[in-house]
Amino acid sequence: MTNLNAQTQVGQFVTEHPCVARIFEKFGIDYCCGGRQPLSSACEARGVNIEEVLSDISKALQSPPEKDLQKLTLAELADHIVALHHQYLRDTLPLLSKQVDRVAMVHGPGRPELLEVRRIFREFTAEMMDHMEKEEQILFPLIAGRSGPVGCSLSHIIEAMEAEHDSAGQALAKMRELTRNYDIPEGACTTYRAVLQGLAELEQDTHIHVHAENHILFPRAIAASRN
Ligand SMILES: [Fe+2]
Ligand SMILES: [Fe+2]
Repeated sequence: MTNLNAQTQVGQFVTEHPCVARIFEKFGIDYCCGGRQPLSSACEARGVNIEEVLSDISKALQSPPEKDLQKLTLAELADHIVALHHQYLRDTLPLLSKQVDRVAMVHGPGRPELLEVRRIFREFTAEMMDHMEKEEQILFPLIAGRSGPVGCSLSHIIEAMEAEHDSAGQALAKMRELTRNYDIPEGACTTYRAVLQGLAELEQDTHIHVHAENHILFPRAIAASRN
């Protein structure tokens, strides 16, 4: 690892090496909304051994590099986010939503936390669908140079999107807490398992999605608008 150490911000690790996202997920380290904290503080907050994390990162970096988002133009990066992460949400949320409803209805009486998961999931889904529309209709065309001024400054729109990312991150963290880290109970039915696995995957994809926007796309768009 060159220049990456315990004092490096966790978001920076993932910006330089996207494959590190999977390692942070494994240790429960928040690299998207909490991406500006140094690795040492993030490990301390989660009670994980920093040496173990650094050793995993070091091993991962010996593998061949993944698609480097930094090399894409702003338009290509916005298109990549839409094609990969927005599409993932549009493909996943409708079915997962039905499964969450079903599990809450069947198991809710014995496990009231599942009713709370359903409430948060519904809110998350509605907010994310609306959020993606705003990015695709207003922000991304502006960033990609495909639309003219929209009567509101770029930094203002970005701040609003980042606040919505924080809210999505909090919803996911709450669902993780309510399901005790997506722990599959003994004898859980197929739908219950699918919900827990689906929520874990949703959290992972959303973290990578928000990271790409908060730490790569948005700062580069702001820098470009000042030139
Ligand atoms: Fe997005
Ligand atoms: Fe976003």
